[in-house]
Amino acid sequence: IDPTIDLVAEIQRLKEEKNAVILAHYYQDAEIQDIADYIGDSLGLSQQAAKTDADVIVFAGVHFMAETAKILSPSKKVLLPDLKAGCSLSDSCPPHLFAKFKEQYPDHLVITYVNCTAELKALSDIVCTSSNAVQIVESLPKEQKIIFGPDKNLGDYVKKKTGRDLVLWNGACMVHEIFSQDKITDLRRQFPDARFIAHPECEDHILAQADYVGSTSGMLKYTIEDRAQQFIVATESGILHQMQKASPTKLFIPAPPNNVCACNDCPHMKLNTLEKLYKCLYYELPEVDLPLDVIERARKPIERMLEISE
Ligand code: 13P
Ligand code: SF4
Repeated sequence: IDPTIDLVAEIQRLKEEKNAVILAHYYQDAEIQDIADYIGDSLGLSQQAAKTDADVIVFAGVHFMAETAKILSPSKKVLLPDLKAGCSLSDSCPPHLFAKFKEQYPDHLVITYVNCTAELKALSDIVCTSSNAVQIVESLPKEQKIIFGPDKNLGDYVKKKTGRDLVLWNGACMVHEIFSQDKITDLRRQFPDARFIAHPECEDHILAQADYVGSTSGMLKYTIEDRAQQFIVATESGILHQMQKASPTKLFIPAPPNNVCACNDCPHMKLNTLEKLYKCLYYELPEVDLPLDVIERARKPIERMLEISE
């Protein structure tokens, strides 16, 4: 594309021309967050996708999020700036293997974390996100047997919070499993007044140290409302942009990973760029579409989630 082009202005122009809306997850690059019509966590983004009156949804996030938007708004065109923006957690649960797993527990209800393929959602009874997983499990009778997947860390966290005995699928997110307990402990010694906040996709021994555990929007809200001036943040680093914007005088420190070569960036989320966003709006490609029967089967468990979390 023409290197002199003003991408932000062109994206705004195309958005109006095509009656498009840009939905961005907190893990996107700052410049994408700044141009979005709505920035949020997975629950907020799916609520927006369900109620938008735009003709085109540009999903600045990863593939399963764009699929969820398509399932909730099947008549809309859903675009994803880079089709390769997948998710390690979603990849850790192939639907054909999950279907076999599920067969072993015929009397169990299936709750799946939204970070999974549409096919997997279609095999589920209720979908959940990190902000409503506890609420959804608690909305079910105590004697209800439950399979929870694909994230074993979130599953473990929900088990502890609710006291329920969930059958867990053994999946995880590559970004949230890299944090170093020892380095976090050292950092907390260095910043004794800092709060340590973590996403429930982190491992149990990391969550055990946290002052607050919650979804990305829950973490953001906590940093705004809490009186502390310093926060050590154990999740993908994109959220720090909104934290810093909301509280310019506070200090936000990304939690350190185990390996010096690692960082807290999600390689999938970070595949999207402003240039790809512009091109996808211009060409209306790549588009995320799904077979009608998958849309129909996957919509029920998502709608059940939205009803419970209203
Ligand atoms: P939430 O923003 O819903 O907390 O999800 C985090 C995540 O890992 C999305 O990929
Ligand atoms: Fe998937 Fe983890 Fe990236 Fe979220 S941060 S999209 S769960 S790989």
